[in-house]
Amino acid sequence: MSQPKVLLLGPPGAGKGTQSGNVAETYGVEHVTTGDALRANKDMETEHGTPREYMEAGELVPDPVVNEIVEAAVSEADGFVLDGYPRNLSQAEYLDGITALDVIVSLDVGREELVRRLTGRRVDPETGEIYHTEFDMPDDDAVADRLVQRDDDTEDTVRERLRVFEENTQPVIEHYEEAGELVRIDGEQSPEAVWTDLKAAIDDA
Ligand code: AP5
Ligand code: MG
Repeated sequence: MSQPKVLLLGPPGAGKGTQSGNVAETYGVEHVTTGDALRANKDMETEHGTPREYMEAGELVPDPVVNEIVEAAVSEADGFVLDGYPRNLSQAEYLDGITALDVIVSLDVGREELVRRLTGRRVDPETGEIYHTEFDMPDDDAVADRLVQRDDDTEDTVRERLRVFEENTQPVIEHYEEAGELVRIDGEQSPEAVWTDLKAAIDDA
């Protein structure tokens, strides 16, 4: 399998974006992420309003908007790592209809650790690289000085995103687990240890 189709599931802050970078680089596949795509098009007018209204409240953007983004991206890619989608059962059903997956992984992290990771997350607006104020800051002061915090990483919005995850996305993880397709990885390990487990899961698929 030279071009794997990988699905990374997990709560906000589990490390999906961090690990997707490793998958894309190592296997030369597309990183398909609805979160980044929506952030780049926050003020796009749709018949449901703009993505910004939903994202800044920590709510899901309506299915038709995200389904269209994913369909366009996966139909163009040989292999991919999908991050941030599907987030509810109806999106999972839509995904089933447009592509077949080689490996489905859940990154498991407890709630307290998620809040710590998200409120400390910083992003480099120039490269998209993900950092953390306590665990992982850049060596280069010029990079450190330009880091920004995501609009939805404030404590109140983080708590709402975690609630939305429990209600909508947890059933998606259970759906794949019941189908016997899910690989669970302990996401509380170091980023390097998580990557070792994830790479093994992809290579075994
Ligand atoms: P999205 O951008 O997908 O956000 P999310 O799912 O909430 O996930 P995050 O990006 O917050 O977390 P992550 O798992 O990528 O963690 P990261 O690697 O950065 O979605 C944002 C919004 O867009 C949604 O709320 C919704 O409104 C909308 N949206 C997106 N997709 C949608 C869809 N399909 N349907 C409807 N609406 C949609 O890591 C987090 C932090 O932890 C970083 O600081 C990192 O450095 C650190 N870290 C990572 N790994 C480790 C580790 N092992 N140990 C210590 N620290 C670590
Ligand atoms: Mg992310």
